[in-house]
Amino acid sequence: MRIATTDSVLKSLFIHNRSLPTAERYTQIEQIERDWIIPKVAALTARTPMIGSRAQWVAALEELLASEQEGTPAGHYLAEKASRAQFTLVVREFALDGLTEAQNFFPIIPRLPIRAQMAVMRVLIDEFGCGNLQQTHSQLYRNLLTELELPLDLNRYLDHTSDETYAFLNVFYWLTQRAPDVEYFLGALAYLEASIPAAFTVQVRACERLGITHGRYYSEHVHIDDFHRKEMQLAIREYEAAHALDPTKLWIGALLLSELIGTAFEAAVRRAREEA
Ligand SMILES: [Fe+2]
Ligand SMILES: [Fe+2]
Repeated sequence: MRIATTDSVLKSLFIHNRSLPTAERYTQIEQIERDWIIPKVAALTARTPMIGSRAQWVAALEELLASEQEGTPAGHYLAEKASRAQFTLVVREFALDGLTEAQNFFPIIPRLPIRAQMAVMRVLIDEFGCGNLQQTHSQLYRNLLTELELPLDLNRYLDHTSDETYAFLNVFYWLTQRAPDVEYFLGALAYLEASIPAAFTVQVRACERLGITHGRYYSEHVHIDDFHRKEMQLAIREYEAAHALDPTKLWIGALLLSELIGTAFEAAVRRAREEA
């Protein structure tokens, strides 16, 4: 695992992705992505068998989720054994994600047919608390950060975030704005929304066990991402109704996210155990 240092390219990619896109900045984004995500997707494509239909994609996703259902040793540790200090470090590790939650999904909207846009917008509206600040997922994360006495200023996390987490954060900027086909994004978000209800039971349990009262960020996801899972499958059906769908690209998107979030989570727990 590598903590992002001042010269970390994935950290600078995150900063570029969140800055006004000048031509010079955009060139740098494309250069970093050319060495990072393009070969990663190419390697995944080379080793992934073709998925012939949307039904096959749904079956493959269900199989992947079932294989992840029982969790990992890192998840079990966080749920049952981690100290409050260790849990706090994991929360700190994902602060850049929580504080900017779902902001990087918006650029996909103009690339989708209108009915698929509506399904993704329903997900986004929930992520933004239906317009109620107190219910936005980023505010739920801020409440958790406050309880754990962590800063609310995003810039304070830039030097404490690992490259594994930056990879997870940056991938959505590529998926929404530069991936050549939208199926990669649709498959990636369909996977993420479907995997979170089981994955976040770890943090829900840790909050209960450690007496952390602002764990609603996690429990809310366990509840609402079940709806988001369905909306994402609907978005994919609507996309298929309007365009020719390439289900293999949905599947590659899902595998990509599974790898990136899995690696980031494992690294976060390992780092928390080393540091606290
Ligand atoms: Fe969320
Ligand atoms: Fe969600």
